[in-house]
Amino acid sequence: MSRDKAPTVKFLNVTKKSPENPQSATILQNISGEVPANHILTVIGPSGSGKSTLLSLCNLLISPDEGEVLIHSKEVREWTVTDLRRRVGLVFQTPTMFPGTVLDNLNLGVKLQGKTLENPEKWIEKVGLPPEILKQSANDLSGGQKQRVALARVLANQPDIWLLDEVTSALDPTAAREVEEWILQLQSKENSTVLWVTHNLDQARRVGHITWLLANGRLVEALPTEEFFENPQEDVTRRFLIGELGGIQA
Ligand SMILES: Nc1ncnc2c1ncn2[C@@H]1O[C@H](COP(=O)(O)OP(=O)(O)O)[C@@H](O)[C@H]1O
Ligand SMILES: [Mg+2]
Repeated sequence: MSRDKAPTVKFLNVTKKSPENPQSATILQNISGEVPANHILTVIGPSGSGKSTLLSLCNLLISPDEGEVLIHSKEVREWTVTDLRRRVGLVFQTPTMFPGTVLDNLNLGVKLQGKTLENPEKWIEKVGLPPEILKQSANDLSGGQKQRVALARVLANQPDIWLLDEVTSALDPTAAREVEEWILQLQSKENSTVLWVTHNLDQARRVGHITWLLANGRLVEALPTEEFFENPQEDVTRRFLIGELGGIQA
């Protein structure tokens, strides 16, 4: 399938101030950029640089103070929250499980849409968990298991934009690679658009088509991924890539 180049997520002069300290603290400062349909954007940057905030703006968890966020050319605040969240799935950095079994958790989103999840075993196996786990209480899972269930829960709803916040960070390297491969396969099958925050620079390079570096709430570099890593334009990027700005922090 050919790539549709129309921008699917677009930030226009977006500024987000701290809710606690709006006069002085700015979390994101004048961010502009776009992610074309069917592309994977990887977002990297030191801890506290605004990566999670950037994702939260795309599904109305928070609203910008200035500027606009366009999803499929429509400003986020013009969407109804339900419609928007059906199209835009966010997998949080720290997964939350709802009371009930793993199966209940997987069914959550699809139930809201009046459907039942076909073949839940398939989804759970794809994130590297055994089907027996479907019967277990979700809150008894380990952090890594919760992270995988949260990912399966969101992607099973078939959103067309995926916001992935450090989704493999709680997994061991082998499991992280397996889950990463599965995400890539599913992405190319479903032609979804992905904003993928990661502190793993190798992962950002492997999976991205475009890469952004955030530092102190500013978008300091935005380039096609290969170029970003091979030939960054900004000194800040070069320093980040060699670990001088806290490159390995989440
Ligand atoms: N709800 C909030 N209230 C106040 N400050 C916040 C809030 N959310 C995030 N921040 C601050 O904004 C900055 C960016 O946070 P975040 O987007 O989580 O960064 P990252 O994901 O890159 O680590 C941090 O300094 C954080 O403390
Ligand atoms: Mg974060």
